[in-house]
Amino acid sequence: MNIYTFQNESGFVQTAAGIIASLVNTNPRAKLGLATGSTPVGLYAKLIEMNKEGLVSFKGVTTYNLDEYVGLPDNHSESYRTFMNEKLFKHIDINLAQTFIPNGNAADLEEECRRYDRMLEENGPVDLQLLGIGHNGHIGFNEPGETLHSGTHVTTLQEKTRTANARFFSSIEEVPTHAITMGVASIMKARQIMLLIRGEDKAEIARRALTGPITTECPASLLQCHPNVVVLLDQGAGRYFK
Ligand code: GLP
Repeated sequence: MNIYTFQNESGFVQTAAGIIASLVNTNPRAKLGLATGSTPVGLYAKLIEMNKEGLVSFKGVTTYNLDEYVGLPDNHSESYRTFMNEKLFKHIDINLAQTFIPNGNAADLEEECRRYDRMLEENGPVDLQLLGIGHNGHIGFNEPGETLHSGTHVTTLQEKTRTANARFFSSIEEVPTHAITMGVASIMKARQIMLLIRGEDKAEIARRALTGPITTECPASLLQCHPNVVVLLDQGAGRYFK
């Protein structure tokens, strides 16, 4: 793993954006695995800026998002489809038809999981998978536990996850109880993984994930097995990596 800690926000964001922009500039038909959450918002804003300045074009790029809540309408303000459209897609020159997110409203959720896996299998692997991390070590919505799933699946969100995400909703009751998420094997198939970790509240989980034992109790620790991972930490999250 290549682990870098940044003293300021601009270095963190510019490095992350630079990695994606050089990949896309080298391969204009790149396939990107994208993530939601507050962590990549600054990166997405930087990519929008670079796109507007003509430094990178996403015309030929295809994207696959990690996860989506079950049961939120697509146009709900907190669906991950809305998040991606608002924070990135509608501001750049990407073809929206080439942006894929699991459908959390499918009539048959199990079939939707299989469909998403087939699509990843036929079109993958992604060139770069972007990841954040939950306070409990989840990646995508792969929650810690005795076992993990390899492929896309419906998962029950842990209370810790629902509580953390309640800040985006008016009350915790509104946070969905389930989500569709890519599995750990699908994530690990990416040619390269870029894990972003921000904030003092993530310092402990960053240490566990990056230097602790590899265990399903901390799904992000599995990334230690991947041959090509870059981890960017801000000053707060990087307390143990100076
Ligand atoms: C969310 C997403 C994850 C994300 C994580 C951390 O619920 N499903 O993909 O990495 O939780 O979110 P944040 O960046 O807001 O801390």
